[in-house]
Amino acid sequence: MTKPRVLSGVQPTGSLHLGNWLGAIKNWVELQDSHDTFFCVVDLHAITVPHDPHELAKNTISTAALYYACGIDSSKSTVFVQSHVSSHSELCWLLDCLTPLNWLERMIQFKEKAVKQGDNVSVGLLNYPVLMAADILLYDADLVPVGEDQKQHLELARNIAQQRVNSRFGSEEKPILKVPEPLIIKEGARVMSLTDGTAKMSKSDPNEGSRINLLDPPELIVKKIKRAKTDPMIGLEFDNPERPEASNLLNIYAIVSGLERQLVLNECASMGWGKFKPLLADALVETLRPVQTNYAEIIANKTELIDILKQGREKAEEVASKTIKRVRDAMGFLEA
Ligand code: AMP
Ligand code: TRP
Repeated sequence: MTKPRVLSGVQPTGSLHLGNWLGAIKNWVELQDSHDTFFCVVDLHAITVPHDPHELAKNTISTAALYYACGIDSSKSTVFVQSHVSSHSELCWLLDCLTPLNWLERMIQFKEKAVKQGDNVSVGLLNYPVLMAADILLYDADLVPVGEDQKQHLELARNIAQQRVNSRFGSEEKPILKVPEPLIIKEGARVMSLTDGTAKMSKSDPNEGSRINLLDPPELIVKKIKRAKTDPMIGLEFDNPERPEASNLLNIYAIVSGLERQLVLNECASMGWGKFKPLLADALVETLRPVQTNYAEIIANKTELIDILKQGREKAEEVASKTIKRVRDAMGFLEA
């Protein structure tokens, strides 16, 4: 029996942080044995907001290295760079012409990011979710593991596949695209900012202190946790809406220590911040240590990494070229 297919990706913008890891990459690692896994570095998405051309390639390699450092295994998963497989852009255009504009104008992430861009907001930013749909649909993905913030984009990908492609150009017995399901693991699905427990931890927050990057050295992790926002209450608890910071930090502790919530409560419910913070910082440092050691090793062998990405590209192209042909044929293009 063939394994169900998984596809996901992260943008190579800046360093990956704890939210990317706990919300996405950690779950990818767990799917590698039971699923046919494809992970891409979505560099075309990274240029939907102004970018630095001197940083793009460097960030792309470093993001791929981090995938491997977090436990993605090249003998189990296909890792590749989105822009290396030209079918992504091609399918994006075909889907663009089938997607109603108002579906995109409704996207929450677009509205949030567009505000920050003012008059300079690009067509690409509006189009971001269609490119993401193309990423997913090209590989006939059954499941897409992402954090909660991507749920709306996944719903869009499903609607495009079903309502705009399959029902218009295919038939029930012969669908053209596979309609994917989201896979959102509850724990870690939303890691919040260290400086505001009601905002998600994000690469684009100008305040470095708001996030733990996977490559932050131990001293910096300790410093960021020490400065993390707290409240005047004593004791820690989950899910009290009045105490978003307590809930977030406790949640992070639960995930990185691998302990059940009840055990975490037994240990920490009556702790003050002064006792809890060093405990959390320690747990984070220890959890990230192996990732950082792996990363240093991988990035020191860049040629090898580039070679693996080339192999990934070939495998990705094999699958993607079949899908793009199916869509072209269904839409009635003259054979090339
Ligand atoms: P991005 O950084 O936007 O490229 O996101 C890459 C992946 O990380 C996506 O699956 C996101 O849903 C996930 N992600 C980003 N930020 C967070 C966060 N604060 N908490 C949980 N998951 C996140
Ligand atoms: N939009 C996703 C994010 O910001 C990144 C992404 C692009 C993605 N293409 C994808 C995630 C395909 C999953 C599948 O997190």
